[in-house]
Amino acid sequence: MCGIVGAVAERNISNILLEGLKRLEYRGYDSAGLTVIRDGELHRERQVGKVQELVNAVEKNPSFFEGKIGIAHTRWATHGEPAQCNAHPHVSGKVAVVHNGIVENYAPLKEELIAKGYVFTSQTDTEVVAHLIADAYKQTDNLLQAVQQITPLLHGAFALGVLHVDHPEQLITVRLGSPLVIGIGIGENFIASDQLALLPVTNRFMYLEEGDIAVLTKDDITVYADGEKVARDIKELDAEHHNADKGEFKHYMLKEIYEQPDAVARTVEMGINQQGFKADFLARNEAILAHIKHIQILACGTSYHAGMVAKYWFEDLTRLPCSVEIASEFRYRNPVVVDNTLMICISQSGETADTLSALRDIQRRSKAGEINGFASLALCNVATSSLVRETDIFLPTLAGVEIGVASTKAFTTQLAALMLLVLKIGRVQSRISDDVFNEMIVELHKLSGQLYSSLSLDQAIAELSEKFEARKSAIFLGRGVQFPIALEGALKLKEISYIHAEGYAAGELKHGPLALVDKDMPIVVLAPKDSMLDKLKANMQEVHARHGELFVFAGENTQIESDERLHVIQVPDVNEILAPIVYSVPMQLLSYHVAVLRGTDVDQPRNLAKSVTVE
Ligand code: AGP
Repeated sequence: MCGIVGAVAERNISNILLEGLKRLEYRGYDSAGLTVIRDGELHRERQVGKVQELVNAVEKNPSFFEGKIGIAHTRWATHGEPAQCNAHPHVSGKVAVVHNGIVENYAPLKEELIAKGYVFTSQTDTEVVAHLIADAYKQTDNLLQAVQQITPLLHGAFALGVLHVDHPEQLITVRLGSPLVIGIGIGENFIASDQLALLPVTNRFMYLEEGDIAVLTKDDITVYADGEKVARDIKELDAEHHNADKGEFKHYMLKEIYEQPDAVARTVEMGINQQGFKADFLARNEAILAHIKHIQILACGTSYHAGMVAKYWFEDLTRLPCSVEIASEFRYRNPVVVDNTLMICISQSGETADTLSALRDIQRRSKAGEINGFASLALCNVATSSLVRETDIFLPTLAGVEIGVASTKAFTTQLAALMLLVLKIGRVQSRISDDVFNEMIVELHKLSGQLYSSLSLDQAIAELSEKFEARKSAIFLGRGVQFPIALEGALKLKEISYIHAEGYAAGELKHGPLALVDKDMPIVVLAPKDSMLDKLKANMQEVHARHGELFVFAGENTQIESDERLHVIQVPDVNEILAPIVYSVPMQLLSYHVAVLRGTDVDQPRNLAKSVTVE
């Protein structure tokens, strides 16, 4: 999604803006631009394509873009195609604006502005904001007041950065539904959609609340909520958050795949040691966890797949009913939420608009007295995110910063944290026996080693991926708790290699998808040694008989023999319940290697964004 960077300083800020944009590339975008104020004028450059195109354009005439205040932007097209005229910043007279999010009512506002004589040069909703501010400024000569006046006119979720030539000391920002953080320097201040963009210049951050409007000068930050000055906390980031380099790896995705043994171990150790739960793990939340009678999981994409696995775990191990749903569906269907529900929102970023909106809707209904005993929990990788701030309980995933758009270590750490939660609720409610609990403690401690072993399949999977390079489609099959991993394997493949792929519960094969099977259709099968193995083998026979080519990721002692059209990849032995975590790794490696062979943009696949902050 779009990325904002802004700076006001005593020094030239154009390189800070460009470096910030590079650090936001992971969010997904199709054009980039920047504006600085220099010698009483706005100096603007915008380019379609990569941030490097913008850097090249600026480098042709660097002194033209030297300025002490500026705003910059990466645009992910919503209103209007990716084109230079639609790239930000948008300008109206002396006003320049960058914008993340959507102004839903831009069309009637645009009509009014056209009637007043404003000329539009883009198809964007953002240009409406620039003209509105310029129009309000005519009455006030005060930039802050102009921004405060027009903000209530805008419907939707958005963040803004605003400059005015006559106020070269002021950078104004608005946060209303889209992420925006303020970076605090010494004699300089910054704004960005993600603190990652500002790590080269500061590690001190102020997190705005929804509806805040802030005025930044090089020496001051003043935040307003409902027109009144308010104080917001400042946080200092630790070194772990700085670890965002690719190191020896060709892509962030590969680095992040390889970080999983450590990330999962960190997440597991957050909750347990060899003896059982750590004393402080969710200790303050035990009263809430003790009274819940139903679990409702909401999430999108990969995080939704983690939720699907958790449903199997919750119902199997605790016998508590658990529903899991895609947040964008749940939100619009007037769902029944029974009393004493714990709503678990799973999100790597904690800024996913669909998940946040679904949560807020139910929180409103709970406050209105429609639901009793309701509580919410954020399972999230970003401690400072909106989701974490707006929920009752925060359960972190300790994956570290994830840059690759394709989620890998965030997914496996979500699964590890979800298992801790299943066990915690099960124990608090005395629904899990000592024997089962102790066995799971032992197995969770083995996970990291098993993940290391699964990484040793890398070379074999790289060789296998050649068989996928020229395919048009693929099918992924799993049963039971491996079904969500089949969905996740298919999502990974389509997301980064652009090969069409579908995941199915293997038992569904004969209810339709079998019609697709012929000698050109690769079928990936997740086959750990578990209670579903015999049923799964029967499904594999159905494929084999129709000359489909099978690629079977099989556990030890599964007695699945390779032949000309059946390739077995041996996966390390693992506990049946935790197997989805370990089997995720070969799925990630397969999609990674296929994507590399096909020459796609692995870390920033086309049309996708890391943090989906619009509906
Ligand atoms: C995963 O590979 C995807 N990039 C995507 O499905 C992602 O999981 C989804 O957009 C949800 O994001 P979140 O976890 O940050 O909420």
